[in-house]
Amino acid sequence: MTSTGTPRPATPLLVSTPADLRAATTALLDGARTRHGAGRPSLGLVPTMGGLHEGHATLARTAREASDVVVVSVFVNPLQFGDRADLDRYPRTLDDDLRLLGGCGTDIVFAPSVEDMYPGGEPLVRVSAGRMGEVLEGASRPGHFDGMLTVVAKLLNLGLPGTGADYRAYFGEKDAQQLALIRRMVLDLNVPVRIEGVPIVRDADGLALSSRNRFLAADERRAALVLSRVLGALRTRARDGAPLDLPAARAEITAEAGVDLDYLEIVDPSSFAPAGHDGARPGPALAVVAARVGAVRLIDNAFLPPVA
Ligand code: PAF
Repeated sequence: MTSTGTPRPATPLLVSTPADLRAATTALLDGARTRHGAGRPSLGLVPTMGGLHEGHATLARTAREASDVVVVSVFVNPLQFGDRADLDRYPRTLDDDLRLLGGCGTDIVFAPSVEDMYPGGEPLVRVSAGRMGEVLEGASRPGHFDGMLTVVAKLLNLGLPGTGADYRAYFGEKDAQQLALIRRMVLDLNVPVRIEGVPIVRDADGLALSSRNRFLAADERRAALVLSRVLGALRTRARDGAPLDLPAARAEITAEAGVDLDYLEIVDPSSFAPAGHDGARPGPALAVVAARVGAVRLIDNAFLPPVA
């Protein structure tokens, strides 16, 4: 049983069409409604692209703790890949994903085909990420955030429960700019869902978990640790009220063999506008970093407490 009193499934129900998703979700929510009496059933949606790891498992378990019904979507969204090779290379591991999600008590896995998701072909009408989608990750991956928001809007719509249900969607804080944009889309377009951010999961050595880590050779993986090391040092300096010295932090990353720094910046966590630094940070800030390690692009971030 879950904390919401819902029986745990042994393996998730796998559905691939929006109609089957709606039917399965409605049936489970009706069951929860019957158990609750007058109470309000809850639905948790965890959008993913598969290639699942412990970070996703944490999302699924967090949703499980708070929801009567948990749906995890697994869809590699072509719209958010500028580079065809990157899309083809993205790990597709549905059997492993189902096993992992079964262990997390997920009720339904929604794994549509491209045709199921985009029945009209390439969508003509898309969500625009605006200015926030053009900086940092958006500058390095033009069009990525428009494609991401478009599919997230569709997934949120497809998961939308019947009236009266409490609807939440769960996203990892590692993709901080993605999360900020999704929050902004939900606010700007009045999407009836609550967005929950779930903290970054790291390996014991500090590397933030990512579906792309599996492509790192052993020496690249070691080199990649410079990212979390530098972020950790920035957080310590922020906590101690010491100057952050971004140029020195960037130089430390650049000095690491095999690591090609894209950006290291301090931004406002909700707008991703540059935040003042080195003693001029009035509010909370986020240090965000992206680098290519060998052929693998990695991102990471750390929250910096405000200057007292
Ligand atoms: O973070 C991801 O895995 C994807 O960007 C998301 C949110 C599932 C949309 O395709």
